[in-house]
Amino acid sequence: MKTIKIWDPLVRAIHWTLVVCVISNFALKEGGDALHHWLGYIAAGAVILRVLWGFVGTRHARFADFFPTSSRLVPYLNALVRRQEPRMLGHNPAAAVMMLTLMALVLALGVTGFLLGTDTFWGDDLMKGIHEWTANVLIGLVGLHALAAVVESIRHRENLVWSMITGKKRE
Ligand code: HEM
Ligand code: HEM
Repeated sequence: MKTIKIWDPLVRAIHWTLVVCVISNFALKEGGDALHHWLGYIAAGAVILRVLWGFVGTRHARFADFFPTSSRLVPYLNALVRRQEPRMLGHNPAAAVMMLTLMALVLALGVTGFLLGTDTFWGDDLMKGIHEWTANVLIGLVGLHALAAVVESIRHRENLVWSMITGKKRE
């Protein structure tokens, strides 16, 4: 099988850093401790790096390659409901909407988590609620994101999760 390099090492490293930090921060559930803060800030930092890389990175890492403009997204969604969505080498537009949402939620957790440590919001119930609610929505969407990766893998007879590890896809 002929393969082609799609995801550069930085894209892959950022992805799996996010996976480890987000899932462990959710699972540990010890909101106040230093480990939680570190993992949360590493995740937020990884997102910021990914955004910068989206402008200067390799071909399929760039926003220009996958940003879900309506002219990309609408035809894709139409095809998806007819179950005729095309296979894409880079990110598909629906996946791109999800990725941008996940990244925004991680950043929101970094900001609300930081605010929880300031004098103004220390122990503030509303801010705690926003932080926890954001974390819950993020985890829910992560489940959907991972499920979609598996479903699209089956539909296009390829292993997208493995591609996020090796960087390679079938041509
Ligand atoms: C990936 C990012 C993050 C995730 C998934 C996450 C998730 C959570 C969750 C689920 C809780 C509730 C814990 C419980 O049940 O009591 C929590 C609490 C908390 N988090 Fe985060 N968090 C993240 C980032 C951060 C950051 C960057 C900070 C601060 C630097 C932070 C500070 C806190 C604090 C202070 C609490 C305790 C709130 C309370 O007293 O109930 N978090 N976080
Ligand atoms: C835990 C939190 C997660 C976050 C925040 C997250 C976020 C992201 C982001 C931002 C991307 C875009 C990659 C890039 O261009 O930089 C992505 C892609 C991807 N993620 Fe995740 N992800 C998470 C978990 C997972 C899990 C658990 C799986 C595995 C089942 C997974 C599988 C994938 C795959 C296969 C792609 C590439 C999709 C494609 O081929 O277009 N992700 N993810």
